[in-house]
Amino acid sequence: MLFDRISRSASSGNRPVVSSSWISRSARRSGRTMLVACLSLLAGLAQAEDIQSPNKQFTLSVNVQEGGVPTYSLTYKGRPVLKTSRLGLDLKNTTSLTSGFTQTSAQRRSFDETWQPVWGEVKNIRNHYNELAVTLTQAQTNRVMRVRFRVFDDGLGFRYEFPQQKGLDYFTIKEERTQFALAGDHKAFWLPGDYDTQEYSTVTSNLSEIRGKMKAATTPNASQTPFSATGVQTPLMLKSKDGLYINIHEAALIDYSAMHLELDDKNFVLESHLTPDAVGDKGLLQTPANSPWRTVIVSDRAGDILESKLVLNLNEPTKFKDVSWIKPVKYVGVWWEMITGKSTWSYTNQENIKLDSIDYSKVKPNGTHGANTAHVKEYIDFASKHGFDAVLVEGWNTGWEDWFGKHKDYVFDFVTPYPDFDVQELQRYAASKNVRMIMHHETSGSIRNYERHLDTAFQFMNKYGYNAVKTGYVGDIVPLGHHHYDQWMVDHYNYVLTKAAEHKIMVNGHEAVRPTGLARTYPNLIGNEAARGTEYESFGGNNADHTTILPFTRLIGGPMDYTPGIFQTKISAYNPSNTSFVHSTLARQLALYVTMYSPLQMAADLPETYNKHLEAFQFIKDVAVDWDDTKVLEAEPGDYITYARKAKGKNNWFVGSTCDENGRTSKINLSFLDPSKKYVATIYADKKDAHYEKNPQAYEIRKVNVTNKTKLTQYCAPGGGYAISLMEAGR
Ligand code: NOJ
Ligand code: CA
Repeated sequence: MLFDRISRSASSGNRPVVSSSWISRSARRSGRTMLVACLSLLAGLAQAEDIQSPNKQFTLSVNVQEGGVPTYSLTYKGRPVLKTSRLGLDLKNTTSLTSGFTQTSAQRRSFDETWQPVWGEVKNIRNHYNELAVTLTQAQTNRVMRVRFRVFDDGLGFRYEFPQQKGLDYFTIKEERTQFALAGDHKAFWLPGDYDTQEYSTVTSNLSEIRGKMKAATTPNASQTPFSATGVQTPLMLKSKDGLYINIHEAALIDYSAMHLELDDKNFVLESHLTPDAVGDKGLLQTPANSPWRTVIVSDRAGDILESKLVLNLNEPTKFKDVSWIKPVKYVGVWWEMITGKSTWSYTNQENIKLDSIDYSKVKPNGTHGANTAHVKEYIDFASKHGFDAVLVEGWNTGWEDWFGKHKDYVFDFVTPYPDFDVQELQRYAASKNVRMIMHHETSGSIRNYERHLDTAFQFMNKYGYNAVKTGYVGDIVPLGHHHYDQWMVDHYNYVLTKAAEHKIMVNGHEAVRPTGLARTYPNLIGNEAARGTEYESFGGNNADHTTILPFTRLIGGPMDYTPGIFQTKISAYNPSNTSFVHSTLARQLALYVTMYSPLQMAADLPETYNKHLEAFQFIKDVAVDWDDTKVLEAEPGDYITYARKAKGKNNWFVGSTCDENGRTSKINLSFLDPSKKYVATIYADKKDAHYEKNPQAYEIRKVNVTNKTKLTQYCAPGGGYAISLMEAGR
């Protein structure tokens, strides 16, 4: 088998030091003994392959260094992005896949296709790359590992492939040893590395400063496992001193644990650090198997990072034959009132309840339960009146008195409503108002319990007309010891997605692993949290520059259910004992519908508040949730982002801009508009004296006629933003 593989190999590398065709000839001549001898000899020599991106701006070099150590490096426009970086994996109880390798073949191919996502930021996505697959053979063990590199016009993706073979069938990963050797002490937008949460504020600092800032950055969470003083999460956004923007993440995280990055802060080398399972193992694999893709997006223009589709392109096309049931959703919900503490998820104030022994109809209701039939009907009325697709209701089912922080195996059954929540009547009422209901499954992190009930829970949803579920994994994973981002949990989230698809259900997973472009394969994954969302505005606040960073970090992997639209920025207006305030102006809350891309968008505030600001609310009603085109007009991570997007199937465009605590003035050019058309622009903006802390609700709305020749100058207050709808003028 080995001989056969080698003799078929072909190298077309630009500068092979030892050509693999030479190996095949000699191997054919002298048989296996000779071959192994040659491989061992070659393992001591260097071998190299180069490949360029289609636009020739990137050059990737793959080398097998002395001692058979595989490495790679990457340049962009002749500038170093990644210096010589090692590849490989440490295995448990057997020889590691890090050295002793010989390159036994190198295959090249080019690929260019354009595909249409089920939902997305653009109508057409071009997937265009040059590929180099390097097969490495480890003489000592006779094992074969392939590293497949794809070089796109916007960066690099590569993964490990482990073909089925006698010497490598089942194996356990001790650690992946992929390096990203950076060219300097770059500015980094980072989160503390953690096996269980990404709900941290982003810290902006040089790489060399991470160690000193780690402790303060690691703020408390319901479940958290930080792992080192220099460990950070992906997507990691970097900017070099000479203006290169670099984003490191992963794509197609399937049956593998999520990757963090461990920094060597003397040499600025990042190395993969996988999430361990309950016994400390980092991956149980059976050949044939692949790792997820490791991704490096690079440009000298920040907006290119936001426009990149590299992560999506590295995921497999969907196998779903029918996708007609998957639809973008604009929704409201019985939610913010609980997050602020105005109402409660639980039905009683009783504590220490044993679910199997409680009869809810006999206990005293607390009078603050949000999910009661009459109140939910008010939300349905509001949704229907303003053209929303759906209403989310949390706290509808029994068990909320009995789970938080308790690590119980069995709490929720996902089918039993509280006595004041009439599922059947609400189904009837919502249908009569042309509104869908969104189910909520808080799993309490108890995985066995959720999987045990999953089929029944999804059947229940089908029966009562729910076509979308928000899942949640608050607290430590039960069984204890597992982590939110380990392989076992990654498999769980993907199992839920597959099961949901069987029931034609869309999924919005909170506290689940960060997305890696998997929505291309599973387009029913319409939302994820996996970052510090708007809820934190009620738990002390997000930094004023938070939403100028998230699109460069968390959103690189996929959309976020950020839940914008908070107009009442003083939380005490809902709950006098909550002193938090929203670190954003009201106008920025509108901009987020454009800058925080998601096919699932919530108008998160309370109807009573929207009713006081109906003119501003009009933007949320008008804004699209699915797009034919997207352009980044200006962007700088941590400072500002301005997007323009064209509504799906329409000529209307929407612009959104957010800036940091300093405020700024944008000069934007509307040249993206159709030159043959006229538009009415409605501009929702901060007033001159607006300020996210001192005067957040000061906004103004004006209408102007515009064309593609128009240039706009628009002010953005500190912690502010603006939103513009550009509607085609009546013909
Ligand atoms: C955390 C989620 O992010 C939040 O949206 C939800 O309301 C709570 N968990 C309760 O499940
Ligand atoms: Ca800033």
